[in-house]
Amino acid sequence: MSEELNKEIERRRTFAIISHPDAGKTTLTEKLLLFGGAIHVAGAVKSNKIKKTATSDWMEIEKQRGISVATSVMGFTYGDYKINILDTPGHQDFAEDTFRTLTAVDSVIIVVDVAKGVETQTRRLMEVCRMRNTPVIVFVNKLDREGRDPFDILDELESELKIKVRPLSWPINIGAKFKGVYNIYEKGLDLFTPSKQTISERVEISDVNSPEVDKLVGEADAAKLRDDLELIEGVYPEFDTEEYLKGEVAPVFFGSALNTFGVKELLDCFVKIAPSPRPIDAEERTVKPSEEGFSGFVFKIHANMDPNHRSCIAFVKICSGKFERNVNYLHVRHNKQMRFAAPTAFMAQKKNIVDEAYPGDIVGIPDTGNFKIGDTLTSGEDLHFKGLPSFSPEMFKYIENADPMKSKQLDKGIKQLMDEGVAQLFINQFNGRKIIGTVGQLQFEVIQYRLLHEYGAQCRWEPISLYKACWIESDDEESLASFKKRKHQFMAKDKEGRDVFLADSNYVLQMAQSDFPKIKFHFTSEF
Ligand code: G4P
Repeated sequence: MSEELNKEIERRRTFAIISHPDAGKTTLTEKLLLFGGAIHVAGAVKSNKIKKTATSDWMEIEKQRGISVATSVMGFTYGDYKINILDTPGHQDFAEDTFRTLTAVDSVIIVVDVAKGVETQTRRLMEVCRMRNTPVIVFVNKLDREGRDPFDILDELESELKIKVRPLSWPINIGAKFKGVYNIYEKGLDLFTPSKQTISERVEISDVNSPEVDKLVGEADAAKLRDDLELIEGVYPEFDTEEYLKGEVAPVFFGSALNTFGVKELLDCFVKIAPSPRPIDAEERTVKPSEEGFSGFVFKIHANMDPNHRSCIAFVKICSGKFERNVNYLHVRHNKQMRFAAPTAFMAQKKNIVDEAYPGDIVGIPDTGNFKIGDTLTSGEDLHFKGLPSFSPEMFKYIENADPMKSKQLDKGIKQLMDEGVAQLFINQFNGRKIIGTVGQLQFEVIQYRLLHEYGAQCRWEPISLYKACWIESDDEESLASFKKRKHQFMAKDKEGRDVFLADSNYVLQMAQSDFPKIKFHFTSEF
């Protein structure tokens, strides 16, 4: 293994910021980019953001899809580190896309609004992190606003996110009286000066009992801070990096992204403790990033806006070795050699053609339909990476052809959109009808629009009353056969041909689970 490769791996940090919409993800991302010198003014990322739309304003989202390619991955350097932030779409309806992005990161930062605490979207995303033991750091944001007691927030993080927490910084008051944070990790006091562009003032304090603290924040607040810290030391065990790396404990920072406060502390600690690219499991074996042979997988496909030139960008996460431009690689599913003349890397908000990239990096490969989510590229080895599950959708509709002359186009469109991961297709084995499952209403409209504009096909939606689609399996052939017979009207196949049970209510699902104890019901496609 080459020294150069190892050095490049060690200095990479690939992560995602996740939050419920409005907690401050975009603002935090932007401040991190400011620190990395990748952008120079606040507001640069914000203006690219997909506008939060309460209603089904999907035209707006369509328009912004082009822009969001640029913000999908943001790379920058900070000191010796090369940092890649993978953007997770903020819109609720794009949740599945977000889930999949989490399969390509080595760690995450969770942003929580101090007034709102843990919200639904955060809880769901955390489930994915837990499944994969992804290390998480929590940033409690908006301390300049009135909010909840920080101890309550810690309790809520533990109970709602189901992870142990360990504060590494601690606020002195919040809201109008917010004075700053004490940095437990580095033992320093950061005094709060509201500012959207500049960095807060930092005072090194070796001992929180020093009278200087009283001078700086006032006697009453200094006393409260000392009490709080004592309580923290009493309640929470010492921070242990190993536990964090195993995904068992989450360090917590407090601050205000908008005021660039507490962000540098977060970043400095992050680069030190967050993992560099880790080994990844393939079906065949575990692949180490330091291996000479290149390997990577497609975790996201971004379709272009221009319907006349249907081209996409496949986002490839590099797992091992060095990726080079114009070198032949094996597209494992097609068993075909391919080389890429114009792979792009994402630095700040620009896409540039790159000659090489290393594990942890994401390269964008222009594509005209060769790739689908989960595809592997290698230097020649037959590898299939695990860990790109489909999640059980929450909304379902029958898709019907509304223009009999265009059924070929419709089929092709549906197939490509499914390969892109826009939604999931199930074929009912009883009546042969196609069912599309999504995580939000908006996706039905996006699919209909794109089928028409990109494929010239017209579709119609018909209602279906379904509670959940779950993948089933069993070691007991007989049990499986008898289940399928009993439920034959409700059996479907997913696009890989796996068995899926369509439960029309929670009650039906529970009954099925208790009547067929030998059958496993799965709510993600990977089990
Ligand atoms: P998101 O990506 O998680 O959806 O959140 P975003 O960063 O867009 O932040 C949501 C709102 O919260 C924004 O206000 C932003 O300015 C504000 N915000 C973020 N961090 C802080 C903070 O530390 N303190 C305070 N007080 N507010 C914060 P907005 O009104 O929606 O947008 P804008 O009009 O201010 O741009």
